[in-house]
Amino acid sequence: MKKIIILLGGPGSGKGTQAKKIVEKFNYGHISTGDLLRALENDKNASLEDKQKLIEMKAGKLVSDELIYKLAFTEMNKFLDNKKGVVLDGAIRNEKQAIEYHNYFESKNLKNEVMTILIELSDEDFFNRLSKRRVCKECGSIIPYLESTKNLLKCPKCNGELVVRADDNEETIKQRIEDQGNKSLDPIVKYYENLGVLKKVDGSKNIEEVENQIINIINK
Ligand code: AP5
Repeated sequence: MKKIIILLGGPGSGKGTQAKKIVEKFNYGHISTGDLLRALENDKNASLEDKQKLIEMKAGKLVSDELIYKLAFTEMNKFLDNKKGVVLDGAIRNEKQAIEYHNYFESKNLKNEVMTILIELSDEDFFNRLSKRRVCKECGSIIPYLESTKNLLKCPKCNGELVVRADDNEETIKQRIEDQGNKSLDPIVKYYENLGVLKKVDGSKNIEEVENQIINIINK
């Protein structure tokens, strides 16, 4: 099993949902750059300069590459120093970032430990999923819109309040899909195809089926 598992996919493709499952099943560290950026927003000790870089996120656009490297590499160092594998969830959004992460893995002697999994889904489905998503304010659980969950008022895991994420409004979702949807994934996909480390799963299947596809790939 590879030490570095990179989940690629557009906004709402299911990266967070599947990352949490891999992390739980294999005891890996979870690097979600979206979560790291949201934590930065609430961090009283963070610099004003870094916080100002979050304006793009609020508008549904990519934040600066440098801020991503600072947050992601600091967090990854902690897991790797403890000999833990990591799941990267949405941490790579353009080819420049893919190259920079690869240089980082090379510096850690981990370039042969990388596996990349693309969760394939249409831009239209990204929109439908994000416009109905709720998350738990307390534990961060991601709640799908299903018959069994659509009327839930509290988190089934911790009883916390279920809320809509600030960037899950129609205007910002559209901007995210324009900037970070399938078109933007092409160069990243080609980069990892050329490295020979890209696998694909059908993200339109239900959550358990997508999970099974991913586990099969990881276990090979
Ligand atoms: P981030 O928080 O990563 O947002 P995102 O990429 O838009 O991804 P999401 O978290 O919205 O969706 P997801 O793919 O995790 O789907 P989920 O599992 O929740 O990033 C936020 C922002 O930070 C970015 O817009 C950008 O500004 C910035 N940023 C982050 N990383 C960056 C980087 N590297 N460089 C620059 N900027 C960066 O699923 C969605 C919904 O569908 C949920 O309700 C879920 O329950 C449901 N669902 C999941 N799977 C299924 C299924 N198989 N069937 C039915 N429903 C499903």
